[in-house]
Amino acid sequence: MTKILFQSLPDHILKLIKSIGAYADQRNVSAYLVGGIVRDLILGKENLDIDIVLEVNAIDFAKTFAKENGFSFVAHSKFMTASMHQENNIRIDFTTARKESYSSSGALPDVSPATIQADLFRRDFTMNAIAVSINKGKFGEIVDFYDGQGDLEQRKIRVFHDKSFIDDPTRILRAIRFEQRFDFELDVDTMNILKDTLEQDIIYNVTLGRYFEEFKKICEEQSPAKCLRRLFSLKILQKIFPDFSLDEDRLKLIESIEIYLSVSKLENFPVSRWLVYFMAFVDDLSLKDTKNLLDKFLIPKKDQKKIISLKTQREIIERLCYEKMRPSQIQKVLSDLSNEEIIFFSCRNNNPSVSKCIDNFLDHYRWATLSISGEDLKEIGFKDGKRIGVILEYLLAKKIDGKIKTKKDELREAEKEFYTRSL
Ligand code: CTP
Repeated sequence: MTKILFQSLPDHILKLIKSIGAYADQRNVSAYLVGGIVRDLILGKENLDIDIVLEVNAIDFAKTFAKENGFSFVAHSKFMTASMHQENNIRIDFTTARKESYSSSGALPDVSPATIQADLFRRDFTMNAIAVSINKGKFGEIVDFYDGQGDLEQRKIRVFHDKSFIDDPTRILRAIRFEQRFDFELDVDTMNILKDTLEQDIIYNVTLGRYFEEFKKICEEQSPAKCLRRLFSLKILQKIFPDFSLDEDRLKLIESIEIYLSVSKLENFPVSRWLVYFMAFVDDLSLKDTKNLLDKFLIPKKDQKKIISLKTQREIIERLCYEKMRPSQIQKVLSDLSNEEIIFFSCRNNNPSVSKCIDNFLDHYRWATLSISGEDLKEIGFKDGKRIGVILEYLLAKKIDGKIKTKKDELREAEKEFYTRSL
């Protein structure tokens, strides 16, 4: 059983988990793997988010383990948690087994040390509340007080009590995200509790920033469109994000974005997926309303800039639809835009000739450069730095338009410019 449970973990990760278990033995501490990774191990899916719960102060434990094993270490005293990482992207989170109480709905919880049983009970859904012992003598033993395995088998998402969504309304988005990701169902009582909570103003006690973190996670799912459509049909999106533009056309646009992002080769084209989806939801808002929303969502300034630019660039982009432009002109229009804006415009315009322009730009001349530099122009006789810049830009446009090809062509064209202008 142990072997089967851990078969989707790479050997070096399994070895690391075992060494944490052995370290816990030396200190006479009970240690468990918990949360999403256990759920996914049981489902046979890959997950490398290692969450360990200890029935002892996790900060002291993790600090010494990290020091002795060459990990960097960060503690979060308020929540009695710590994380350690290595440069090769391995990250392990340690939590002190704890119970939580919520002073008000949506507030961050007050936490106090507890047993593993109480720790599992404070969690969102039974399927996320299964633990696996990692102490040496008990390695791989499943600890499942609330029949999470039964719910996984029956493909059910179930909360522990009828205040679960009130305590933490962000769980509403999580429930639907997991429902769609695994193709599970919310158990009938859980769905009723969810709908009941949705009717209460309590859901607005949570900061939009926290909902927004969940929105981003939805955008990282394999099919965000399916999940967003489901949230729309349950009227959850409308309640939680009342400022978004939401209608059938918007959902279709979201579907086009999902297709674009899944079929395009984006290795050399870094994209924040959530940003492209977000653009669809704010596209119809005025600049003022958009700016308000960005502040409410606590969106970082660098991302805010891309969304605001989307509004101001709209007319320039529209030109691609009706003007016949040379490739160099298209390059001029598009090269100032972020990758996210380019993808968004390509999907939104739904116009084959615009998509073709954009694809051509991305595939052929987004990164076009000259073979010569300012130094070559100086050798020809150009002196003024500003003028050199203008000539380089002129030559690049000619190259993009296919009028010159080789380094020789570039030099010949530069000389021609120099002699005709200095006559
Ligand atoms: N958790 C919770 N309530 C929340 C968020 C998290 O009870 N609002 C608990 C769940 O037990 C969850 C664990 O904390 O499994 C880890 O949270 P997170 O990493 O966000 O979720 P995963 O279940 O690992 O989901 P994913 O596969 O999307 O990373």
